[in-house]
Amino acid sequence: MELEEAHVVVTGGAAGIGAAAARAFAGAGARGVVVADRDGAGAAATAREVGGLGVEVDLGSEAGVATLVTRAEAEYGPVDVFCSNAGIAGPYGGPEVSDESWQLTWNVNVMAHIWAARLLLPGMLGRRHGHLSSTASAAGLLANPGLMPYSVTKHAAVAVAEWLAITYGGGSGVGFSCFCPQGVATPMLETWRREDPSSRLASASGETISAEQAAAALVAGIAADRFLILSHPEVRTYQERKVADPERWLAGMQRFQAEIDRARAEAESAG
Ligand SMILES: NC(=O)c1ccc[n+]([C@@H]2O[C@H](COP(=O)([O-])OP(=O)(O)OC[C@H]3O[C@@H](n4cnc5c(N)ncnc54)[C@H](O)[C@@H]3O)[C@@H](O)[C@H]2O)c1
Repeated sequence: MELEEAHVVVTGGAAGIGAAAARAFAGAGARGVVVADRDGAGAAATAREVGGLGVEVDLGSEAGVATLVTRAEAEYGPVDVFCSNAGIAGPYGGPEVSDESWQLTWNVNVMAHIWAARLLLPGMLGRRHGHLSSTASAAGLLANPGLMPYSVTKHAAVAVAEWLAITYGGGSGVGFSCFCPQGVATPMLETWRREDPSSRLASASGETISAEQAAAALVAGIAADRFLILSHPEVRTYQERKVADPERWLAGMQRFQAEIDRARAEAESAG
């Protein structure tokens, strides 16, 4: 995908990977960068840095995504690259998590990608030009111990991207990518580490990279028209191990979960 002179929309651009991606797209020569976030002041700050447009919007509804697309098109014309990056960690826990929390996590981490495709794909296919990128996670290829809604919704985000690429990607002129980072030093990771005593153990399975490193991998992957974009090479190894021997992979994850349970119990008994 040619990024020079492109009109790029980045969601979740007030902070973390999205803010770094907005800067990286501008650095790659994009002519218009739209920075969307529910944090309006943060979106405006990133937009100022890149000479783009900040849009305060909640992407947990189709109306929010539609508002964003309308504002972006009014400013810079048809969208060339839509980088659907906003995501939430969701609550710790499994089936006991409330339906309300499940739905919120589902809307932001999965439906926002589907709504973006619903709104943008007809135009992109008609123009035979465009790129839809979604940020999932290594948790969507492997698993995230502790956070079931995150793990499940990120698997679904990978499935959404794969399905769109299979159905609409062959020779249409429209590209699709799915970004699956592991640990990235952002406000999301900081919050998780503060709130969950076992998180250090969970994120010790790989290197924590900076938001700039993650964004550089994302933008280079889109420019190179790659579908699966990995910023952490070890994720490919873990993925290969999972596919090669699922029983062994599961047993390893169960041992890992037992260590996490011990760390959480120790932290709780220490007050
Ligand atoms: N940080 C990591 O280690 C890591 C690892 C794998 C995947 N990811 C994924 O990368 C993406 C970016 O994560 P990050 O670490 O930069 O997170 P972050 O929390 O630092 O930034 C995410 C941004 O998205 C915005 N956002 C969240 N919900 C929104 C909504 N409903 N509407 C509009 N904006 C909303 C937040 O306000 C925030 O500015 C997410 O999809 C996340 O799941 C992060």
